[in-house]
Amino acid sequence: MDRYAIILAAGKGSRMKSKREDISKVSFPILGRPLVKWIIEALKPLSPKKLIAIIGFGGATSEPIVKEDCEVIWQKEQKGAGHAVMQVAPILEGVEGETIICCGDTPLITTELYEGLFQKHESSHNSLTIMTSVLDAPHGYGRIVRDNHGNVVKITEQKDCDDLAEQIKEVNAGVYVFDNKELFEALHHINTNNAAGEYYLTDVIELFAKKGLKVGTYEVADIDETMGVNDRYQLSIAEKNLKARINKGHMLRGVTIEDSDSVFIGPDVTIGPDTVIKPGCYIVGKTYIGEDNVIGPNTYLENCVVGNGNKILTSYLTDTVVGSDNEIGPYFHSRGNTIIHDNTHLGNFVEIKKSTIDSGVKAHHLSYLGDAVIAKNANIGCGVVTANYDGSHKNTTNIGENAFIGCNSTLIAPVNVGKDTLIAAGSTITEDVSDGDAAFARERQVTKEGAAKKILKK
Ligand code: UD1
Ligand code: CA
Repeated sequence: MDRYAIILAAGKGSRMKSKREDISKVSFPILGRPLVKWIIEALKPLSPKKLIAIIGFGGATSEPIVKEDCEVIWQKEQKGAGHAVMQVAPILEGVEGETIICCGDTPLITTELYEGLFQKHESSHNSLTIMTSVLDAPHGYGRIVRDNHGNVVKITEQKDCDDLAEQIKEVNAGVYVFDNKELFEALHHINTNNAAGEYYLTDVIELFAKKGLKVGTYEVADIDETMGVNDRYQLSIAEKNLKARINKGHMLRGVTIEDSDSVFIGPDVTIGPDTVIKPGCYIVGKTYIGEDNVIGPNTYLENCVVGNGNKILTSYLTDTVVGSDNEIGPYFHSRGNTIIHDNTHLGNFVEIKKSTIDSGVKAHHLSYLGDAVIAKNANIGCGVVTANYDGSHKNTTNIGENAFIGCNSTLIAPVNVGKDTLIAAGSTITEDVSDGDAAFARERQVTKEGAAKKILKK
């Protein structure tokens, strides 16, 4: 039987209490990945014949997130989840198959659970299978109402719960597999006669039961997997749980994480064994880290590739490739478009942008290196600055192999300093320096014998 998937992501998300009208709830990020993208990534391995995302409120922020993987359907007015699914009728009405409907706000549900729901549906020959959890604190969720024989008869939404329904601990996780034809048939018969004045998707359940169609449930024991994110407190709980899950995965693959609670690792990060992640690190984007590194404490890496055996201590790097056996930090900053080869020492308050740093380079303290190409084993003294910006253009500084750039030198780009050169401390270099030369570009010192006292008196 063909499988289809619909993600509901058009809702207002009013409980997020944002003052902005242009931002949808499902675009709020968790560990750098938007809420709805977690659902998409979990559904993709099921290879549904169609993966459809319904967007609406704040849709301009949702569309770029979903359109890469999903067919996009707009729900222009938010009249409830049932109304949202009605918008898909032009594509799926009358089509033979099984359709999974998921919420865009349940980021913890795994591929295995979605697959488990499908399998339960198929093996039980159900027309509808609902993912459920039994909660000690069910408030806020739709409740599964059963008859005396234990058959599901309907779902009662929180707003419509009487005292009796309020007691029910079995809740709707918001994910269902439907017989597709029956789903779109039933949607013709739901209405807005309820506390919210919306077309509840969950009203379809009662219609299925009344029609004598087989309705079953698939219970998920771990409520941490099915929770929905409706407000920013739940967003933080979901983040905490996803973070723990990701960190645990890395630890079981041989990565040491010290104080895992304080370490944020995004879902698209790969880390090799025997790397140690120290407290307070934030590693996001598409980042690859090899083996035997020590990262942190308090290091930020975004879209970086890091080889093996590096120490990156209390530093901030984005869009940077780091080779192996480097000693970086503390307080190093790479602003991107930068390649650092092997065995370098890049120390405190060294800032690098759009540069290539070849192997063995040392820049231990207080430098700005922008648009620079620095060859092997060059020594960059304390306080060296590449003056790369002339007010209208960014210009390149080339520094040759084994060059020794003295402290507090300013290299006014474009400028080339050859290999085996010496730049005297305090120089302002405006002209190229050829291989093997030494350049002094500073005032000569004047010393007046015994004059200090006299001058100070003035
Ligand atoms: C929903 C379920 C509830 C379940 C809970 C699980 C309904 C009516 N209720 O409640 O039984 O226990 O999820 O987390 O479905 N949406 C639209 N268009 C709309 C309204 C909503 O696309 O007009 C989308 C939202 O973006 C969201 C999903 O539908 O992804 C669910 O809406 P939400 O308001 O979060 O429903 P809950 O109150 O959480
Ligand atoms: Ca919800």
